[in-house]
Amino acid sequence: MRNDLAKILIDETTLQKRVKEMGEQISQDYKDKTPIMICILKGGVLFLTDLIKNISIPLELDFMALSSYGDTTKSSGVVKIKKDIDADITGRHVIIVEDIVDSGLTLQYMNDYFKQHKPASTKICALLDKPKAHKTEIHIDYLGFEVGNEFVVGYGLDYAQKYRNLPYIGILKEEIYT
Ligand code: IMP
Ligand code: MG
Repeated sequence: MRNDLAKILIDETTLQKRVKEMGEQISQDYKDKTPIMICILKGGVLFLTDLIKNISIPLELDFMALSSYGDTTKSSGVVKIKKDIDADITGRHVIIVEDIVDSGLTLQYMNDYFKQHKPASTKICALLDKPKAHKTEIHIDYLGFEVGNEFVVGYGLDYAQKYRNLPYIGILKEEIYT
């Protein structure tokens, strides 16, 4: 898999250090609360599991699966729910855990969707952000790293379902997806 990468963008040590800081920040901000962390499948899974190991307050987990991407590297802009959450989030503090914000359309859709259930609060926690790719105004409350517009894989992020198990974030060689 390493041969398919142009380079490693964020190595394992740097990732783990930042994820630990994010977990500690969330523990502080939500002390005396029990947030529900809603992970967006599948890309957010590696980030979620490392993140919650660094959170010292009680929390609940839930999962949601959406699709906006086929096996391509461009967002279709159309978001569909493939798996809904199980929890009742009314009156609860929700933290959405996402791998990467690209156009921002997925998160905008989720935010609007959750609002109908009247949570006490909703915050967004994303490992990566591509600020130059945003097509909507989106506020990220907890952000790991900003990246450029390259297509990245690893640490949960895939290209055509591959590369999720890399322990670091890498830039995929263009020849792999063109
Ligand atoms: P958005 O709705 O355009 O913000 O798309 C967000 C989703 O697209 C993310 O949750 C990822 O699943 C996927 N995505 C966007 N950019 C990348 C990338 O560089 N690598 C892998 N997946 C990506
Ligand atoms: Mg995703």
